[in-house]
Amino acid sequence: MQRLPSHIAIIMDGNGRWAKEKGEDRLYGHLHGVESVRNIVEGAAELGIKYLTLYAFSTENWNRPKLEIDALMHLLVQTITKETPKLMQNNIRLATIGNTDSLPPKVASNLKKCIDKTANNTRMTLVLALSYSSRWEITN
Ligand code: FPP
Repeated sequence: MQRLPSHIAIIMDGNGRWAKEKGEDRLYGHLHGVESVRNIVEGAAELGIKYLTLYAFSTENWNRPKLEIDALMHLLVQTITKETPKLMQNNIRLATIGNTDSLPPKVASNLKKCIDKTANNTRMTLVLALSYSSRWEITN
């Protein structure tokens, strides 16, 4: 417990393949991906991790079918709205990295609401990497 990292970053991957293996649609995988996110956030906070970064949506992901992008954006808004009270209860601050200007306005405004509300929380910072890319990071 004395040697825990202060920052853990996770690249979300395999939701689609996991669902396909079960004979289900990719969106089924994303729905279950959100369950994993919830468990990981809870576990990391319990362990005393100070920063948890989730690489959730890369710039390449914008090339996916519109239906999948829309579903992911909807899931993101729904999850943020639903989980904000839990973040407050658990003293967790939300932050984002990536080119968030490219997110749909509804997603951006919901994120901002949650970021502002949780700004003074101190137990752990949950960083969502959205529309992330190494090239974008370097050029900006
Ligand atoms: C990785 O699996 C998952 C994604 C690229 C999208 C993850 C985003 C969400 C589930 C939206 C909600 C996010 C949060 C943080 C609440 P994949 O689609 O790359 O699967 P594959 O590698 O099997 O194709």
